Amino acid sequence: MSSLTNKRIVLGVSGSIAAYKAPDIVRRLQDLGAEVRVILTQGGAQFITELSLQATSKNKVHDNLWDKEAELSMGHIELAKWADALLIAPASANTIANLTAGKACDLLSSVVLASDCPVLIAPAMNQQMYASNGVQDNLATLVQRGIQVIDPAHGAQACGDIGEGRLAESTEIAKQVGSMFLSTKLSGKKVLITLGATIEAIDPVRYLSNHSSGKMGMALADACIEAGAQVTLIIGNISTSISEPSKQIYASSAKQMYQSVMENIKDQDIFIACAAVSDYSVKNPKNHKIKKSNQVLTIELTPTKDILKDVCQLPQKPICIGFAAETQNLLENAQNKLKNKGCDAIILNDVSSADLGFKSDENAVVFIDHKSSIKLAKNSKQKLGRKIIEIINKKFL
Ligand code: PMT
Repeated sequence: MSSLTNKRIVLGVSGSIAAYKAPDIVRRLQDLGAEVRVILTQGGAQFITELSLQATSKNKVHDNLWDKEAELSMGHIELAKWADALLIAPASANTIANLTAGKACDLLSSVVLASDCPVLIAPAMNQQMYASNGVQDNLATLVQRGIQVIDPAHGAQACGDIGEGRLAESTEIAKQVGSMFLSTKLSGKKVLITLGATIEAIDPVRYLSNHSSGKMGMALADACIEAGAQVTLIIGNISTSISEPSKQIYASSAKQMYQSVMENIKDQDIFIACAAVSDYSVKNPKNHKIKKSNQVLTIELTPTKDILKDVCQLPQKPICIGFAAETQNLLENAQNKLKNKGCDAIILNDVSSADLGFKSDENAVVFIDHKSSIKLAKNSKQKLGRKIIEIINKKFL
């Protein structure tokens, strides 16, 4: 997994001669695995064409806060929510001043205000401008607010001056964006995650299962890997790709998943039960395909063992986080599961809507523990995964 795998980067390109390097920055971010969308300011458009940026990013370039079509769906808010990080490269003196003043005078400054993700800026301008008190004071203010500044390089400038103000190299810019995602918060911690659907055989060709794709579990695994954890995955039936580096164990039925979890739970610091495990298995699965007939067919089901509940009862239990997939009485059912299973927290998701929960790329959840609940609004499973891991880290580690 590269440092920007599955990361969505909004690249803001503002008015500096160095804007001609923006397509290369897009490429270097893509090399590290990122998907890139570009916002081109009016100033930036004096130095680089929308077409070059569209061709390299393979996405429509956004250049207008007043784009009627985009703003129908609140385009600037959508872009702000979409981004895992905002990178402004090159960042002109004017854009830096807009950010410092908290202005929403164009699409780029509005997206920065509307976003809660990390922001990085790579200033590029004439060396005298860069050294000026105005720019330096503004940069100091932005750093204080948590914006990361990628220092410009020293050397010959387009205007003929020599000094500090050249845009940092594209590879260096991409590297700094990548390293921002690498954290050591869970370093040394072991996390075991179940994901996907279990399959309960009726006969050799038919089975009982559910709609879980494994996407939510994989997003959590990615977030743990990013934070430096050692991740073990117990994988049911999934329709998503699996991240390296993780230990991967396949378990088809609820019984196999139970065994695999119990064999691997020792020494784990955190257990996240994201799999949609069948509550019932077929009592007497047939060895041969059941023949079609006109008779009513009754299949007897028997309850499966509850993996989460049993892990919670281990004498040296890890921090146990469950999920509650609900379609009615959401909060009440989730709170009952939190109590009955004995876990430290339960993550409630409403699976009655087609665009959330099962299979979808997005989800909306409530993180409930014994003291409080935190609502996490609809967002990509990747982003929610990171937020959930951040909450687990803050609350329990
Ligand atoms: O995989 P996706 O398509 O991305 O969809 C994600 C998801 C909707 C599957 C996921 O977010 C989710 O809600 N997973 C839990 C689904 C589920 O089985 O919920 P439940 O309310 O039936 O079970 C409660 C908890 O007990 C879950 O943590 C479950 O893993 C666990 N359980 C259930 C039964 C059982 N026999 N053993 C268990 O450990």
